[in-house]
Amino acid sequence: MDCFTYRKGILHAEDVPVPTIAAEVETPLYVYSSRFFRTRYNELGQALANLNHLICYAIKANSNQAVLRLLANLGAGFDAVSGGEYLRARKAGASGDRIVFSGVGKTRSEMRLALEGGIRHFNVESEPELDALNDTALSLGEIAPVAIRVNPDVDARTHRKISTGKSENKFGIPIDRAREVYRVAAAMEGVEIVGVDMHIGSQLTSLEPFEIAFRKVSDFVRALRADGHDIRRLDLGGGLGIAYEKGADAPPSPREYSEMLSRTVGNLGCEVEIEPGRLIAGNAGILVSSVIYRKQGTGRTFLVLDAAMNDLLRPSMYDAYHEIEPVSEKSGRTESELVDVVGPICETSDTFALQRRIPRLSQGELVAFRSAGAYGAVMASEYNTRSLVPEVLVDGDKFAVVRPRPDLDTIIERDCIPPWI
Ligand code: LLP
Repeated sequence: MDCFTYRKGILHAEDVPVPTIAAEVETPLYVYSSRFFRTRYNELGQALANLNHLICYAIKANSNQAVLRLLANLGAGFDAVSGGEYLRARKAGASGDRIVFSGVGKTRSEMRLALEGGIRHFNVESEPELDALNDTALSLGEIAPVAIRVNPDVDARTHRKISTGKSENKFGIPIDRAREVYRVAAAMEGVEIVGVDMHIGSQLTSLEPFEIAFRKVSDFVRALRADGHDIRRLDLGGGLGIAYEKGADAPPSPREYSEMLSRTVGNLGCEVEIEPGRLIAGNAGILVSSVIYRKQGTGRTFLVLDAAMNDLLRPSMYDAYHEIEPVSEKSGRTESELVDVVGPICETSDTFALQRRIPRLSQGELVAFRSAGAYGAVMASEYNTRSLVPEVLVDGDKFAVVRPRPDLDTIIERDCIPPWI
């Protein structure tokens, strides 16, 4: 399914021509497709239909309120990793009992926020965190529902910066030690064990690492039950990858993923929670930018865009690949060229693609970065005092700005100069 297609040579987001949006909002900007979010979410739900499950969308991938509201309306649960994300989900209409709280460094005030507002469970990642949660819950007269995140020491075979399930990663409690932590947790008055949690990494393009990890977790659940714990939920994290590059092998489908879930954990009788982020949001969005200059270097051509690493960080941070396409196919354009696609920021890492062959683009033309719906706008910053990139949501033939571009005065006036300077 692709919700960004060419019609009469012009890229459309659903039924809206991208140049129409760019003319109104100006570039750079993100454009999201409601239809993609809905279809992907429903497709995943159908694939998981034979399992007692809850899809807890990983808010971190794209946390715009409009996106969260759209998913909440479909019945989604949510995975929050900060007090801010928790509040976003609540504001978007999610009830607390559909929000799980993950993350390696939850503070006591974040725990309080979630305990007071209602929470499905906390995914606890260390013994000191467990102590802090127990204390916080007791001080509020609450009992915190808890799953402990175990680290299975499995290589997710993804980019090293987004791999989380190896023993050298900061995440979770080593699975060999976790049984003892469950024993300690069971004796605490402020926590109630409800399940087991795991997440081994992001952008996994093979099911094998999942399968190895899920089998380990399945054995672990049996061991915990033998110890007398009531394990009713299994939170298996996110991580299923998407296709970024045209022509590359397709990653496993939701159906294949679901079959693997049934094979590995299906007979435990647990409610299975998954936390997909990229799978739902990644191909729901594009980043639209304009070519400011075509610049001739020594032996190479630079396309200098008005989007930069502060708007889409993934290429400079992970050497990530995003398809870059002209918004107008321009009938008869046959010429392509090797270019370096760069942004205007003053460092060399502000590079989107090196020696990429793309259709020849002129100054002023619009380009689209594909697969930018996840970890795009959420990772944007104001580096170089550039305004935070705006976001637009399309639904059929209508569109709305769902986060406007702040003006420069607003950004600058946020700073305060103390009177003693
Ligand atoms: N659950 C937990 C506990 C996570 O840490 C993550 C992602 C997810 C779920 C969602 O994973 P997904 O389904 O989206 O793969 N900024 C990086 C990705 C970082 C992912 C961090 N954790 C990127 O742009 O590739």
